[in-house]
Amino acid sequence: MTGLDFKNLKRKKTPFYFYDIELLRETLATVKTEADRYGYHVHYALKANANDRILSEILKYGFGADCVSGNEVITAAAAGFKSSSIVLAGVGKSDDEIKAALENNVFCFNCESLQELHVINDIAVSMGKKANIAFRINPNVDAHTHHYITTGINISKFGILEEDLPEMIATVQALPALTFVGIHFHIGSQITDLEVFKELCLAINLLQEKYFTDSALFPTFVNVGGGLGVDYKDPHTEPIPPFGTYFAIFNQYLKLQPGQEVHFELGRSLVANCGALITKVLYTKKSSHKHFLILDAGMTELIRPALYQAEHQIQNITRMNAPLEQVYDVVGPICESSDCFGTDINLPLSNRGDLVAIHSAGAYGEVMSSQYNLRTKVKSYYSDTMGDRIIPICAGQERIN
Ligand code: LLP
Repeated sequence: MTGLDFKNLKRKKTPFYFYDIELLRETLATVKTEADRYGYHVHYALKANANDRILSEILKYGFGADCVSGNEVITAAAAGFKSSSIVLAGVGKSDDEIKAALENNVFCFNCESLQELHVINDIAVSMGKKANIAFRINPNVDAHTHHYITTGINISKFGILEEDLPEMIATVQALPALTFVGIHFHIGSQITDLEVFKELCLAINLLQEKYFTDSALFPTFVNVGGGLGVDYKDPHTEPIPPFGTYFAIFNQYLKLQPGQEVHFELGRSLVANCGALITKVLYTKKSSHKHFLILDAGMTELIRPALYQAEHQIQNITRMNAPLEQVYDVVGPICESSDCFGTDINLPLSNRGDLVAIHSAGAYGEVMSSQYNLRTKVKSYYSDTMGDRIIPICAGQERIN
């Protein structure tokens, strides 16, 4: 990535989200090329970022949409995703959300419980519709990621346990408005130990052999979920996640029955590194033990550090080439001690008014922002209309801690 001037960024009122559209396009093109190698289908998980400009780019690459709420279904349809490529997932779909999905003729419902099967059937019957159903199965595979985003072990609220499959199978066959179409798995997010995906494949193979080789209940697709992680510590060296290696694992280990498709629902890996939260230093403050950089962005704009102890790379972009001579706790203005973007971060000696970039904020950033403390929702800007790009880290500015 080239180090372009960021003159236009400097003129904007902070804080704001900034998206590098060129990097987004490079990432999407890579995903497409690598997935096409095996004929794999990718549904973009809107929950990672549902910004309409980002959606319009994603749409151009022919991906489907993975939605977890009625509003996401409506947003995906409005953005131009074909109904035949929209999926509604989620452990707690409300009746209104099921209706919205049926009205939009979504491709399928990823179903998580016996009771949900009955509810979808009843609503579909009352609307004179049919619903395609995939079972979200909990394969009991540990994703080795933060426990808040681990979803496929036996104590998770997500998915159907193996012991419940026989009853699910009998029920989906018996209910008149349901058509069984596939099986679905999602074991967690921000997975960087790729061995985990091999374990997922092996677990799926066993489940397929045991329950889904009977032609009466043929899964036309195996949806293996999302979860591919990004490098938050160093987002600039390899800004595009290792999609080639990732898809190759499924190609090597996932056993398919003739005619079966493989679906993916990736969110973070498509959008994380193309976004940065740009914020300004409001105050520099020294206490007996710490130097604080107090920013004008806080957990209301990017909650990941407060919620998952996530470490995003932090850079003073006003002083790109200055030595990293001060250790700061970088905090926001919100009245919560958890409103902290990072402790003991090496940065240049910084001043009020300096611009700071918090990198890799394109996924689960803007979309998880809140109005707590009655904060105003921040704006977003895009590299292709501003002439700026995400600012690359300078050689001298790598984090030392
Ligand atoms: N499919 C299902 C069923 C999911 O629950 C998720 C994410 C995805 C796909 C997309 O996963 P991805 O490819 O983005 O890892 N807010 C958290 C992440 C929550 C993930 C929720 N589910 C964070 O900021 O780390």
